Amino acid sequence: MESRLEANVTDKKESNDVDRRSFFKRVLMGLGLSAGYGTGAVYFLNFIIPRKKPIKYRKLLVGSLEELPRGGSITFKDLDGRENVLVNTDAGLKAMSTTCTHLGCKVYWEPNNDRFFCPCHNAVFDVNGNVVSGPPPRPLDKYEVEVDENENVYVMLKES
Ligand code: FES
Repeated sequence: MESRLEANVTDKKESNDVDRRSFFKRVLMGLGLSAGYGTGAVYFLNFIIPRKKPIKYRKLLVGSLEELPRGGSITFKDLDGRENVLVNTDAGLKAMSTTCTHLGCKVYWEPNNDRFFCPCHNAVFDVNGNVVSGPPPRPLDKYEVEVDENENVYVMLKES
């Protein structure tokens, strides 16, 4: 009788040990799966919604206000060697690409007309580079302009 009771107690202990062991196994398995799926979900979200890299700018000294009377212009090259123009308009300093957005001809600043003109297909852009007439599909590329306390004029160029 006693031995049966002992056997029963031993069985219960073993049963408890097995239950505890299987419980911990399941908990560990659940944690492992959660970590795996969580990591996968983070990579998936990064793939679907990629993080934006911060845009880096380089400040280029183009000239000084002294050299740039109203209507005046200074040409400068960007980091890729493309030609651009800085103009002093009634609406302020404007820095634009001189590459036409239609077929890439060179655009000229016309101080007397306060506009940019592309001679290839007679396109006209306003002082902000917006298309006024002609076939170009979009405005001219623009740059931010900064003037420091010594009246030096800088253009902010995007690094690629
Ligand atoms: S290339 Fe400038 S309008 Fe066509």
